[in-house]
Amino acid sequence: MCGIVGYVGQQEAVPILLDGLQKLEYRGYDSAGLAVISRGRLELRRCQGKLKHLVELVARSPLKSVVGLGHTRWATHGRPSEENAHPHTNTDGTLAVVHNGIIENDRALHQELEKAGYKFASDTDSEVFAHLIDKYYRPGTPLETAVRRAVARVKGTFALGVVSQREPQKIVAARRGSPLIVGLGNKEFFIASDVPALLPHTREVLYVADNELVVITPAGVKLTNAEGRAVVRKPDHITWDALQAEKGGYKHFMLKEIFEQPQVIEDTLRGRVSGLGGEVILDSAHLTAAEVKNFRRIFLVACGTSWHAALVGKFLIESLAGIPTEVDFASEFRYRSPLVDRQSLVVLISQSGETADTLAALQEAKKRQAQTLTICNVLGSSMTREAHGTLYTHAGPEIGVASTKAFTAQLAALHLLALFLGRKSGNLSAAKATVHMDRLRGVPRLMEKVLKTDAHIQELSALLFKNKDFLYLGRGINYPIALEGALKLKEISYIHAEGYPAGEMKHGPIALIDGRMPVVTLATNSSVLEKVISNIQEVKTRDGSVLALVTRGNREVPKKADWVIEMPPMEESISPLLNVIPLQLLAYHVAVKRGCDVDQPRNLAKSVTVE
Ligand code: AGP
Repeated sequence: MCGIVGYVGQQEAVPILLDGLQKLEYRGYDSAGLAVISRGRLELRRCQGKLKHLVELVARSPLKSVVGLGHTRWATHGRPSEENAHPHTNTDGTLAVVHNGIIENDRALHQELEKAGYKFASDTDSEVFAHLIDKYYRPGTPLETAVRRAVARVKGTFALGVVSQREPQKIVAARRGSPLIVGLGNKEFFIASDVPALLPHTREVLYVADNELVVITPAGVKLTNAEGRAVVRKPDHITWDALQAEKGGYKHFMLKEIFEQPQVIEDTLRGRVSGLGGEVILDSAHLTAAEVKNFRRIFLVACGTSWHAALVGKFLIESLAGIPTEVDFASEFRYRSPLVDRQSLVVLISQSGETADTLAALQEAKKRQAQTLTICNVLGSSMTREAHGTLYTHAGPEIGVASTKAFTAQLAALHLLALFLGRKSGNLSAAKATVHMDRLRGVPRLMEKVLKTDAHIQELSALLFKNKDFLYLGRGINYPIALEGALKLKEISYIHAEGYPAGEMKHGPIALIDGRMPVVTLATNSSVLEKVISNIQEVKTRDGSVLALVTRGNREVPKKADWVIEMPPMEESISPLLNVIPLQLLAYHVAVKRGCDVDQPRNLAKSVTVE
């Protein structure tokens, strides 16, 4: 993981780098550091812990410069500490490197460099880059040549930024497998791991592709391929605006993002559902009717919250398109020899488009001749460049590490995909598709109503936040929502929580039930409500306490549950989009009550770009 940022231009680099790091802190916050060229000399500032410590350090010990690099770390090799914080330097401290990724042949390179007399000052794999570049950086050799030779020796993934006091107006950057973007300004240029770091300065960006190397100076940008040949690429224009990446008056990004969901769903549906003939327009998916009719099986592959979206997607695709659908964890899919062939559609679901396991699963699916489609939130991310087609979720930048709005945008996108496949395969009539589209279009308005439960949920969280364990139960299409509710609570409040299919409870977890474990139950109106009510009864019989989501007007559930959250009447097929919101809010308020760092929970990072 980790975030990197770099600046070359006419302005003071340090505030730009610190602001950029703040926008990238979601990528990791075990340590942070800067390297700048100040009056011809390389200067470093590095700290263990969050960025605020680096900001304090720089305030105590200021730096003046117009060129520099910044890094915020999520530790893989080497525990979080100042020595392991980036940037790393060569032995005489004249060049510095920031790195996001993993060097797989770290041991071999380490030994080779030690034999050649290089001294290592950290336990990180990244430091190898600093010494390896130094080795090739002979007098008269330009920095980019040394970097090119060094990266050719490295196995693994990287987005890399390098500065040297010998060429003080230059940053050399390279990538393989980890994201890297160049921001284009007026006589000033930037590198970054992600768009939000660039938004205050420019919306014109160049996406650096794998095995490319880029040199930025105040005079411009030079992009080359692995062989050193010039690459000409048109810049992309980013439509996200800087305000979307700010808190906008909310206490946390997560809360803001929860409240953005009605707008996000509208944006994700916009231009894709036509009132005419029940058609769904998904041009960028690049799927023809003939291809859809040829699919024998669909695989939905993802990690974490995106995997929960995939579980809901299975229900939707099988019921609307009638195509058998399997759901896989990306980390399992890539190693289990899946029965994927040219009659398969493999759908990779990822907010970031950079998750290492999901990206590897995409490559595996392509190797096996499958058609691939990614449902993704980040324009130009690795998955969108590798998959045959892309279905963008238009959630805007999601900064909170716990995914909320990106999840519901994925659910909406999967709904669209299911309708699209249903129409193209001939399984779904235009009339039925139109009914479903109308329901989907009604989701933002229903979400607004659900968000009004916020104050009530805050009160409930005051009663529940001291509990050490929670169980979440759901059935059918709401079983994945039970999993997602439990994951949200675990991630941000560090409370142990388990999601379970309600009917499975009696096969084991029922042994855990006592008065100290609240059971959050999804009991809104559905084809399986009677069964869910029996499950609530089973909990109550064993002195458990139940918090139930219930459809307004239902009389039976409130009689049995200890606490209820009333939901507006809604169709079962869209209920996951709505039922997840109170669970997001519950996790949020419980975490706030426990004094947890909601937006940057311990040990986590937003995109997991390592295996
Ligand atoms: C979500 O709250 C998590 N932080 C995490 O499970 C996430 O969904 C997972 O890492 C997948 O990320 P992606 O969607 O960017 O691929």
